[in-house]
Amino acid sequence: MSDPLWPYPFWIAHRGAGKLAPENTLAAFQAGAGFGYRMFECDAKLSADGVPFLLHDATLERTSNGLGTAGEQRWDALVQLDAGSWHSADYAGEKIPTLEEIARFCLEPGSRRCLNIEIKPTPGQENETGTVVAQQAAMLWAAAGAAAPLPLLSSFQQACLAAAQAAEPHLPRALLIDEMPLDWIEAALALECIAIIAKHTLWTASTAAAAHAAGFKRVAYTVNDQASADRLIALGLDGLITDRVDLFQPG
Ligand code: G3P
Ligand code: MG
Repeated sequence: MSDPLWPYPFWIAHRGAGKLAPENTLAAFQAGAGFGYRMFECDAKLSADGVPFLLHDATLERTSNGLGTAGEQRWDALVQLDAGSWHSADYAGEKIPTLEEIARFCLEPGSRRCLNIEIKPTPGQENETGTVVAQQAAMLWAAAGAAAPLPLLSSFQQACLAAAQAAEPHLPRALLIDEMPLDWIEAALALECIAIIAKHTLWTASTAAAAHAAGFKRVAYTVNDQASADRLIALGLDGLITDRVDLFQPG
């Protein structure tokens, strides 16, 4: 039976399908969709002139031919960059996408695609990034109508989630954690999150039960081998984020 509070598929393609194609580009999303994936994780931050766009790192060097801090550059400069050649010649000329472009891909009529937007601010821009990403996501999904599940906003930065909560409280939120601080449940409760997304090794019978008892959905990242997936499925988790769209059938 479907859960109205958790309308998302179990399998989630990390950074689009960010190993088979350049991460966080439209080509990566298309690759994931080609393997039947209907939910995608991406990393979003702001350009210097406030445009939400997709990039994992704070800096441009690893995944484009640009230089320096991405968030210090205007969108009209960022859109000129080649974000595909670093991956392989097949993707030469692939662009950094705006969040809006990726939203439109997910919201194509009949596609039933879902998006997990990880708010990944340039350091020092936590509040602004949380606010603007939430506002734009709310606007784009409202324009698409009620049929599409709302995007799930997540962040390691509690300040981003607090800003998103203040700006667009109706958008679902998830606290991301890569370690288990003593107050992880309390922090997620204070931010009115519906889910906790943890590094997969942090999920044990004990932590999974504690999160469930507190009312949270439980998601793990980044799950790339069968043994890890089997362990997490046996724990009863609600979603797995993977690079291996070629290994795991999304169902
Ligand atoms: O959102 C899950 C995962 O993407 C968090 O880690 O570094 O891949 O953004 P990272
Ligand atoms: Mg991410």
